[in-house]
Amino acid sequence: MARPTFQTLPGTRDLLPPDTDRFRALVGVFADEAARSGFSQIVPPIFEEIGVFTRLGEATDVVTKELYAFEDMGGRKQALRPEFTASVCRAFVQHRPLLPWKSWYAGPAFRQERPQKGRYRQFEQVGAEAIGSHDPDLDTELIVLAARFYQRLGLKDITLVLNTLGDKADRPAFLEALRDYFGQNLDALSQKSRETLSLNPLRVLDSKRPDDQPLIESAPRITDYLSSGAGLAFERVQAGLEALGVAYELNPRLVRGLDYYTRTTFEFLSSSLDAAQNAVGGGGRYDGLVADMGGPDEPGVGFALGVDRTVLACDSEGVFAAPDTRTQIFVVSTTGGLEGLKIAEELRSAGLRVDRAVDHRSMKAQMKAANRSRASLAVIVGPDEVAAGTASLRPLDDRPQFVVERTELVSRVKEFFPS
Ligand code: HAM
Repeated sequence: MARPTFQTLPGTRDLLPPDTDRFRALVGVFADEAARSGFSQIVPPIFEEIGVFTRLGEATDVVTKELYAFEDMGGRKQALRPEFTASVCRAFVQHRPLLPWKSWYAGPAFRQERPQKGRYRQFEQVGAEAIGSHDPDLDTELIVLAARFYQRLGLKDITLVLNTLGDKADRPAFLEALRDYFGQNLDALSQKSRETLSLNPLRVLDSKRPDDQPLIESAPRITDYLSSGAGLAFERVQAGLEALGVAYELNPRLVRGLDYYTRTTFEFLSSSLDAAQNAVGGGGRYDGLVADMGGPDEPGVGFALGVDRTVLACDSEGVFAAPDTRTQIFVVSTTGGLEGLKIAEELRSAGLRVDRAVDHRSMKAQMKAANRSRASLAVIVGPDEVAAGTASLRPLDDRPQFVVERTELVSRVKEFFPS
């Protein structure tokens, strides 16, 4: 086949069946879990004024390198959303709903990353955010919501990694300690991490480069710099997870890719994915973000899960198969009239999944289409059936064909598909 003139851009892809069915079903499971925990859906726009996203932090790749930024015809600077949290905070400030405001979302996000398996430029997230409460038990509830979602999909190889980044006020002393420590050991640091150090020493802890690891291993830990409030909150989250029987690992080097985090941070890692893209979800507290967005100083906590990666993890664990949306019945009509169309609509109204042959082709061509459709039953009407007030039912396996009264067609077909 000749190469088509147009193809999808790097990092984007067409989702096709069965993945379309799985993505939809997965969002359905998430919606159900979120509603059970008191979250309602928000659908923010896909693009916003660029300032909404630059609030995510000037030292994050997501903002500096990966944003899809453009101007509208009036020269207004805007960008495709790289994530939802900023939009949710913007919406909170704009609408001032009652507190706590608990919302969930699902949809695409956009980052100009280097594409690879599990890393796309357009990817799908589901997530939940709660604005207006400092209660660390809320952090626990959010973590458990995500964990229960993975559990419902049937995923087992998921590890919850937990850390705290302390309060904003705890940060300067910790950053200073990191700067000192890495500064004294510059020779042992990769070139890239030396650059990162001047921008944001925290992010050096996030380096995956093997040559940086020995130094990172013994770097200062945030837990030694926590205010008593942040320390107590972190203990409370751990106590909550333990009380609910949710396993977690502490990792003092867990630094998230966005700058707004305070206190609790967490990630869900799948051991069935390649290490570079094994984070299937992450989140944490962002107690200063609403204020940064020009709103009141309300705290927030939330998470987002990567749908594409979650589906990849389901593939490698062999769980969460696509729901069956296959055509059940294929209608074959050689009357040249409207009988085939009418039968198809009657059966659809009765709740069955029905397709039919178009273009009034020969019986043979229509039966070929019926077999291709993978339906399990063909309903056949020709001039003889119309004259006799009947229809023929042909199971598309080895069972014999039989004739039913036209008036009983729907009930006889339904017997074939006991629900
Ligand atoms: P994030 O860690 O940047 O956090 O993204 C969350 C998840 O989205 C990741 O764990 C990953 O599964 C998926 N993801 C991110 N980038 C890509 C990509 N290029 N291709 C495929 N999947 C990707 C956030 O977005 C925060 N807004 C989470 C949050 C909500 N924190 C507080 N509230």
